[in-house]
Amino acid sequence: MSKRLIVGNWKMHNNPHQASLLLHHLNQQIVQHPDVTVVLCPPFIDLVPLAREADPKKFKLGVQNLNDHDEGAYTGEISALMIKDLADYAIVGHSERRRYFNEDDGLISRKVAAAVRNGVIPILCVGETLHEREEGLSTKVVVSQLEAGLSQLDAGEVAGIVVAYEPVWAISQGLGKGHHATPEEVGPQIRAIRGTLEELYGEAAGMGVKVLYGGSSDASHCRTYLEMEGVDGLLPGAASLNFEQFAAMVKTAQELA
Ligand code: PGA
Repeated sequence: MSKRLIVGNWKMHNNPHQASLLLHHLNQQIVQHPDVTVVLCPPFIDLVPLAREADPKKFKLGVQNLNDHDEGAYTGEISALMIKDLADYAIVGHSERRRYFNEDDGLISRKVAAAVRNGVIPILCVGETLHEREEGLSTKVVVSQLEAGLSQLDAGEVAGIVVAYEPVWAISQGLGKGHHATPEEVGPQIRAIRGTLEELYGEAAGMGVKVLYGGSSDASHCRTYLEMEGVDGLLPGAASLNFEQFAAMVKTAQELA
């Protein structure tokens, strides 16, 4: 894996035609860099056209969710087994999934395990709500989501995953207020994630894990987060739909790599 990772979560935006157009613009703006991996996470319906059209040296693909089973009678669901030839990454446990789709830590741990079992790299999202933050529970919530999410993996498997810290209150639309969190607000949780990984899985595993920051990161704020100790990359949502913003974020990561 390269040093830095920039993952665009397109959320529920873009039909296949719009997805191809966005990829076309991104392809024009982004140059390949050996130390920065760029991952696009479109809706499932865009995965097949993008897998066909994207230059695999420049763009990796990911999904925004997975079922925890590999196959079966689960109407409307999509599994890691089904997407593994199309995508390398899967966002798991995003705060919108936790909140709107009632995903709990048990289900999220099974989804993480399903991704790993199928050779898909999970991007496990952890983060506290505004209420939890106001109660002084930020670090406690993040550590507990992390421990639960990884509970079905061994140290070797943990070493290959990605963790994204996305304080729910900082997300730009929906559940958050689009507050640009400061490094002072983000730092304790990043350190807690790193510390917990090392404590539970050993130094090598802890060092192997990529830790991303998500939550209204955009072209003008990304450098602050990318320069933070322990942060390897970003998981932007809204900014990933704007090719100029997203390309600028990739460029910043490349400058710092
Ligand atoms: P945002 O979303 O960049 O639009 O705030 C980030 C996220 O949901 O992780």
